[in-house]
Amino acid sequence: MYTQSFSVGDGQGKSNGPKPVPVISVDDAEKVAAFEQKIADDGRIEPQDWMPEAYRKTLIRQISQHAHSEIVGMLPEGNWISRAPSLKRKAILIAKVQDEGGHGLYLYSAAETLGVSRDKMLDDLHTGRAKYSSIFNYPTLNWADVGVIGWLVDGAAIMNQIPLCRCSYGPYARAMIRVCKEESFHQRQGYESLLVMMRGTEEQRAMVQDAVNRWWWKCLAMFGPPDADSPNSAIGMRYGIKRFSNDDLRQKFVDATVPQAEILGVTLPDPDLKWNEARGHYDYGPIDWDEFWRTVNGDGPCNKERLATRVKADRDGQWVRDAALAHARKRAAREAKEAA
Ligand SMILES: [Fe+2]
Ligand SMILES: [Fe+2]
Repeated sequence: MYTQSFSVGDGQGKSNGPKPVPVISVDDAEKVAAFEQKIADDGRIEPQDWMPEAYRKTLIRQISQHAHSEIVGMLPEGNWISRAPSLKRKAILIAKVQDEGGHGLYLYSAAETLGVSRDKMLDDLHTGRAKYSSIFNYPTLNWADVGVIGWLVDGAAIMNQIPLCRCSYGPYARAMIRVCKEESFHQRQGYESLLVMMRGTEEQRAMVQDAVNRWWWKCLAMFGPPDADSPNSAIGMRYGIKRFSNDDLRQKFVDATVPQAEILGVTLPDPDLKWNEARGHYDYGPIDWDEFWRTVNGDGPCNKERLATRVKADRDGQWVRDAALAHARKRAAREAKEAA
């Protein structure tokens, strides 16, 4: 999946503060002009092309946060694989969680084309320096959470990610095409599983409503802070990485989701949610940004658990990487000997 933190600076705190203005030489000025022309023409920047440092850094932060979000995003749902209510649901959930792992690997590869190593990105994640989407710092308390994550969390991710298929950096844009197709399956399987539960018992309907109540506001916060408080949004827009503002995407998501909730027969937990004829959009109530920032900065209900799980998985897998490297070294030595 996912979204939100892509406009959040790594490290602690919400403000990145003003940056010093770099000195630009005549040579650089020509390169900058060619780069900006390409962006203006809606062309694609490729790894071998010259790019400003701010562009490279913005992309590394965004793509690596996106990759981390895919990988950490496997955890809340992975927790339910052993408890899925049927073989069919289990097979679907395994496929979905596996897709998320694939998205993470795709995106780490895209980030590597910008000159950052995978070891460095993983180290940043494991030491808490890098962010990932805060939505995964909340627990999945009942089976309906799995359906609601598909419907709402993957649904929000799709809203955010479809414009990324046209982002100015070629490897990222191309990776997103496949990712979006798979996210679409994630959203549909979630919605379908909720439809089945809503046609079931009173208890099942109550589980769905409970899950919707807990996830709705978190999903709205996934689009990131309002544009005025989003220090990285402007640079993303300027460089053709971001095509729509956080608030525009959030509004699109609300407008698309309200009719789906009506078909499903659930109530979205917002007394202020209503159609605004003049605007041609749904109005919605205020989002609790203090809670959002607390979670982004490490104080959500599952932050420590999620990170500890990733660090343990990395440590447990070290012997596999060591063995693969030892085998590669042995093979190279044997081939060198045979060639001599
Ligand atoms: Fe994904
Ligand atoms: Fe997904």
